[in-house]
Amino acid sequence: MSGLLAGKVCLIVGGGSGIGAAAAGLAVRDGGKVVIADIDGDAAERVAGSCGADGMVVDVRSSASVQALVSDVVRLHGRIDGVFHTAMSVPLVNKNDRRVTELPEAIWETILSLVLTGTFHVCKYVGQQMLQQGAGSIVLTATSDALIGQAGIDAYTAAKGGVIAMTRSIAAGLSPEGVRVNAVCPSFVETPHQRGFLDDPALRARIEAMHLMPIMTAEDAAELALFLLSDRARYLTGGIHVCDGGYTSFKGRMDMLEIFDRAAD
Ligand SMILES: NC(=O)c1ccc[n+]([C@@H]2O[C@H](COP(=O)([O-])OP(=O)(O)OC[C@H]3O[C@@H](n4cnc5c(N)ncnc54)[C@H](O)[C@@H]3O)[C@@H](O)[C@H]2O)c1
Repeated sequence: MSGLLAGKVCLIVGGGSGIGAAAAGLAVRDGGKVVIADIDGDAAERVAGSCGADGMVVDVRSSASVQALVSDVVRLHGRIDGVFHTAMSVPLVNKNDRRVTELPEAIWETILSLVLTGTFHVCKYVGQQMLQQGAGSIVLTATSDALIGQAGIDAYTAAKGGVIAMTRSIAAGLSPEGVRVNAVCPSFVETPHQRGFLDDPALRARIEAMHLMPIMTAEDAAELALFLLSDRARYLTGGIHVCDGGYTSFKGRMDMLEIFDRAAD
């Protein structure tokens, strides 16, 4: 079998939609034996059926649910070579997150718990399996908004900043025994829950102006994660990898030469 992930057992957590669903299809294309797990079991089954993967249910907030998922995947395929953890309630953030001064305590706790405790459960139980194997690749999902300031989503950026810190410390703990841990930081991705913003031409133009390239597709965002799952990334661990069309690389669409020329007039 050929392909970037030939024969590798890949678990995509949160694969029922968006970046995870795109990753699942691409991982099958690249030769992986793919299991899609999602809190929405119907979505997981639907995506799995469309690309030749297996679908399972998981709620990453529950330790027992994540343990059961790991056991089921190992029962089915004998091992787990890679996990891409993308699970997140994007509508929860889009509708309820706020600037710190207006942010309800309950929303803060819900977002931190889903992101941080969910990531803890996935890393803990998949990590135990990978340590037994002496090999594996864990790819977590942060965001470019945890690398530079973005007003109005203070719980989300705090939680994803925590994922960045977890990536480094968990890598430091697991990588000497063969388990690599990396995070991807996408900027704005054209996923189902973001279409509400992108369907508004004025809003789309503002979001586009924050990038040097067109808004990325879910597939664009997924490719980096698949590379990190593969053996081609065998020396990469503890890394925070941006996939952002230049979002974090520039201050604004302004050519300084123009400013200098004006000042000289
Ligand atoms: N879309 C973007 O613009 C963007 C940008 C930067 C980072 N991200 C991050 O990328 C990841 C994927 O985002 P997306 O836009 O593809 O999201 P999405 O909503 O399309 O997919 C996320 C999936 O996670 C599942 N999920 C939610 N809660 C869960 C739980 N408790 N247990 C298991 N599954 C659960 C959902 O059912 C859904 O299928 C998220 O971590 C998000 O924070 C997204």
